[in-house]
Amino acid sequence: MKAIVITGVAGLLGSRLANWILENEPTYQVLGIDNLSGGYKDHIDSRVLFHQLDLAKDNLDPIFSAHNVEFVFHFAAYAAEGLSPFIRKYNYTNNVVATANVVNACIAHGVGRLVFTSSMAVYGAGNPPFDEHDIPNPIDPYGIAKYACEMDIQVAGQQHGLDWCIIRPHNVYGINQNIWDRYRNVLGIWIYQKLNNQPITIFGDGSQKRAFSCIDDCLLPLWNAAVAKEASKEIINIGSSKEYQIIEAAKLLQDIVGGAEIKFLEKRHEVHAAFATHQKSIDLLGYQDNTNLNAGLVSMWHWAQSQPKRQQFVWPAYELENGLYQFWK
Ligand SMILES: NC(=O)c1ccc[n+]([C@@H]2O[C@H](COP(=O)([O-])OP(=O)(O)OC[C@H]3O[C@@H](n4cnc5c(N)ncnc54)[C@H](O)[C@@H]3O)[C@@H](O)[C@H]2O)c1
Repeated sequence: MKAIVITGVAGLLGSRLANWILENEPTYQVLGIDNLSGGYKDHIDSRVLFHQLDLAKDNLDPIFSAHNVEFVFHFAAYAAEGLSPFIRKYNYTNNVVATANVVNACIAHGVGRLVFTSSMAVYGAGNPPFDEHDIPNPIDPYGIAKYACEMDIQVAGQQHGLDWCIIRPHNVYGINQNIWDRYRNVLGIWIYQKLNNQPITIFGDGSQKRAFSCIDDCLLPLWNAAVAKEASKEIINIGSSKEYQIIEAAKLLQDIVGGAEIKFLEKRHEVHAAFATHQKSIDLLGYQDNTNLNAGLVSMWHWAQSQPKRQQFVWPAYELENGLYQFWK
C-alpha cells in the first residue's frame, strides 16, 4: 500500500488534510508525525498511523523504511511570526533543522514529492499583493527560516533530484486551529478571548491589512500540490485574495459572537499590509475562494464553543527580553 507522511498532523493543516485524504483518497495509508508542541492529539483521526516524534531531534528512518512513502506533506513548524525574534534559537531549530531532517529522509527514501508549506512571511514588507516572482525579503526570524527551507529544498531538487512543491499560505483559519496560543493565529486568539470573557486585542490601531483563508478551501489545492504534474518544482501562493483591515475583521467577529470589547495594544514590529496574489494557485492547483470570512468564522466560532476549556499557552521564559512588548512580559 502506498503511504503519505504528514508532519504536523495534530495541527490545523495536517489534521484537516489527513481527514480529507482519508475521505477522498482512501487507497493511501496516512502516516502522521507530530511532537504535540502546538497541536492536539484529539484532532488526529484514529485511522492515521501516528508517531509522536520531534523532527528536530528524532530519526525518521524507521518510519520511512517501513513504508512505501510516495508523498510527504511537511507542515510541522512553530509559526509564531511576531514572537520569533524573542525565541530565535527555538524558531530556527523547529523550522530549519526540522526541515533538514525531513529533506534528508525524502532523499534517502526516494519520496515522489515533498510538499512544503512556507509562508507569506518570506515576502517581508514588499509591495502587496505579493506575487511569486517578487524577491523575498523577510523581516523576522520566522520568515527567514521559511526562506532558508525553501532554498534548501530547491537545492535538494537540483543536486539530488528531489521533486517538490512549495506552498506559501497566509492567515489560514478554521476548525482544528490552535486557539490556545496567545502568540499566533489572530482569529483564534480573539475567539479564545471572547470565550474567556476578555476583550479582544489589536496591536496598534488595526489599520494593518491581511487576507484570511479558510482551511476548507485549501485542502484540494494542497492535495494537488502533491499530485499535479504542473505543480512540480513550483512555488505557489495559496489563500484568499480579499484583504481586510484588522479592525474590520475584528468588527465582523464582534457581530458573529454577539459583541465583544476591543482593546488596542502597543504596536508590533510587523508588515503593515500583507496579502498575496492567488492566480497561480487557481491555474495550477484548482484553488477556489469559496468561503468568505463571515461564513468561515461562523463555523469556526460554532466549533470553538464545543472545545475543551484548555489553558492558554504562555512561554515560561523567552530567549531574549530586549525589546519585548509589554503585553507579552
Ligand atoms: N495557518 C496559517 O495561517 C499558516 C500561514 C502560513 C504558513 N503556514 C505554515 O503551514 C504549516 C502548518 O500550519 P498550521 O496552521 O497547521 O500550524 P499548527 O501549529 O496548527 O500545526 C503545526 C504542527 O506542527 C507540530 N510541530 C511543531 N514543531 C514540531 C517538531 N519539531 N516536530 C514534530 N512536530 C512539530 C505542532 O505540534 C503542530 O501540531 C506550518 O509550516 C506553518 O508555518 C500556516
